[in-house]
Amino acid sequence: MSKTDQRGQRVPPARALASRPQWQALQRHAATMRKRHLRDLFAADADRGTHFALEAAGWHFDYAKQRVDAETLKLLLRLAEACALRERIAAMFRGDRINTSEDRAVLHVALRMPRKRRLIVDGVDVVAQVHAVLERMAAFCDRVRAGAWRGHTGVAIRHVVNIGIGGSDLGPVMAHEALRQHCDRSLDLRFVSNVDGSDFVEAVRDLDPARTLFIVCSKTFTTQETLANAHAARRWCLDALGDERAIARHFVAVSTNRGEVEKFGIDPANMFGFWDWVGGRYSMDSAIGLSTMLAIGPARFRELLAGFHAMDEHFRKAPLARNLPVLHGLIGIWNTNFLGIASHAVLPYAQYLKRFPAYLQQLLMESNGKRVTHAGKPVGVDTCPIVWGEPGTNGQHSFYQLIHQGTRAVACDFIGFCESTSALTAQHDLLIANMLAQGEALAFGKTAAQVRAEGVPAALVPHKVFDGNRPSNTMLARRLDPAALGALVALYEHSTLVQGAIWDIDSFDQWGVELGKVLTRRIADELSAAKTPRLTHDSSTNALIRRYRRLRGNS
Ligand code: F6P
Repeated sequence: MSKTDQRGQRVPPARALASRPQWQALQRHAATMRKRHLRDLFAADADRGTHFALEAAGWHFDYAKQRVDAETLKLLLRLAEACALRERIAAMFRGDRINTSEDRAVLHVALRMPRKRRLIVDGVDVVAQVHAVLERMAAFCDRVRAGAWRGHTGVAIRHVVNIGIGGSDLGPVMAHEALRQHCDRSLDLRFVSNVDGSDFVEAVRDLDPARTLFIVCSKTFTTQETLANAHAARRWCLDALGDERAIARHFVAVSTNRGEVEKFGIDPANMFGFWDWVGGRYSMDSAIGLSTMLAIGPARFRELLAGFHAMDEHFRKAPLARNLPVLHGLIGIWNTNFLGIASHAVLPYAQYLKRFPAYLQQLLMESNGKRVTHAGKPVGVDTCPIVWGEPGTNGQHSFYQLIHQGTRAVACDFIGFCESTSALTAQHDLLIANMLAQGEALAFGKTAAQVRAEGVPAALVPHKVFDGNRPSNTMLARRLDPAALGALVALYEHSTLVQGAIWDIDSFDQWGVELGKVLTRRIADELSAAKTPRLTHDSSTNALIRRYRRLRGNS
């Protein structure tokens, strides 16, 4: 009997991805494409640089240096149709429960819908809810920024410490770095995430408690690292200010869990909420972005949301063949599954984007680092590649050697801006020249004949040859401002959904983080137990626990 979806439409029986005819057509095509060099692809089409490029939401996306031709794109798009990508996109925007393993809707796109839009989910207009929270956030941020929100002793807040981890940290940290030049520099923002107490101690060591506000960010408000740091902050605050009433002036919370926030001792009036349909790694534009709004102000925050929304609308409406996140995601599938490239470097040529690769690591790897389909069957093909990166040009003097001449291919995303973010504009030209040079060098390389023609001694020729044919995307926007950042993040969010749809995985759960959490609780008790515990781990873990206890004087 065939199944039906939430709207009563027939769902075709799941077919293993690798046995789909569209997948197999791509495999046959890949056998040919693996023999073709980017030099040949460019030689065959004098306008490849314009034919394989696209504009959306202020971003120019150049994928001409990918090892694809028109046939590749046609076959990838057929695969996307066969995997019901359009339906998956529509289902997300409708608010269907596409996070099936947690039975939740996935509606980060509602966080940036304009006020006049309505989106009813389970009888509630979620857009109205979003704007109600945005208004409370804006009122709060205006008061703090204007010095009207006073600390317990009556002085204005000048330091803000965001305590959170994962999605409750990486987005806010990344956005704060990215938008530094739009920030109110009289407000000093810091971020604490690691359960290593040094993170907290270093963050507050030169702060005045009377002028410090803590934002405790946690979707669940049960995350061990965040609660440990929040309790440390509470003690630090009370030690200095000596009065429980100070907590209400120095702590606010961002969470979906009002009960736990209250239990911690934060007044719910100082809590900014969001909803279970916002995944942690998709939450930087929810109230989790409170620190971002404090730093750049409510008006700039709205520009950030507008940038997200512009990319959302493009993603929702553009045909798949002219859809930037769709092409970005499908090209990733091509590289991972058909060219066998297991590594994806994100290389922003913008110092302010220095935390962007770390942000994307969670977004991409926590979303698509999965091995089973929605139905719990093995995916049967590789899923998310290893995502990493550093800003250019620093990476060039470190790991680019491997990218150019190593034996493992790395797919690169270059990200750059046309306008300089500093007054040193000549250096900006140099920065972007470096970015373009890297893409060119990776694609075209340098042949032995070219090296020899330079008069290089024969013994050195192999060392100086660059094979080239190493694929990259280049993303270019006019300037790094809130709107461009919002659109860029939305691009990667949607590209992640595209890839998840092809692999038929739930991109919105994260069961893979659970086992470590459970074992940590048990080991933490064993490390600190007053009496020598009976250890029943493997012999390696047992020996390490004993050594640790001995050296800590606990044995
Ligand atoms: O452990 C992983 C995770 O659940 C992430 O998905 C999430 O962003 C992070 O922990 C923090 O969770 P919370 O915001 O609930 O503290």
